[in-house]
Amino acid sequence: MRKLSAIIAGLSATALLSGMLVVVAARTKAAPAEPADTYKSKCVACHGKKAEKKFDTSMSDDQMVEAVLKGKKAEKPPHMPAYGEKGVTAEQAKALVDYMKQLKATP
Ligand code: HEC
Repeated sequence: MRKLSAIIAGLSATALLSGMLVVVAARTKAAPAEPADTYKSKCVACHGKKAEKKFDTSMSDDQMVEAVLKGKKAEKPPHMPAYGEKGVTAEQAKALVDYMKQLKATP
């Protein structure tokens, strides 16, 4: 009887551990796609904390997404880099544009 309960305890501990591993793996996978993190690490230097620089909100969403993916030449350097080549997807670009609008709108 003792042996059986030891086995059961061992099994449930294993199940618990693998469940935790799955949660941790899912978290680390989702992290790089967070627009706030991407913005802070890649965009803030040129566009500012509140997206107050070089961000013309009269452009359409499509034009903005295209600027993120394909880059955009400014009158003089630094130009907007093309992030599509660096692995940013259209979906992430849209999320970044939405995030920038939100930043600019909140004082
Ligand atoms: C090296 C500086 C630099 C970095 C880094 C940079 N940008 Fe830009 N971005 C620019 C410039 C310059 C423009 C064009 C402004 C103009 O038209 O004169 C621009 C334009 C844009 C536009 C179009 C809006 C407009 O007014 O032209 C969007 C959207 C944008 N950037 C998003 C981003 C995002 C998102 C990131 C980070 C993933 C990023 N930028 C990183 C310099 C930069």
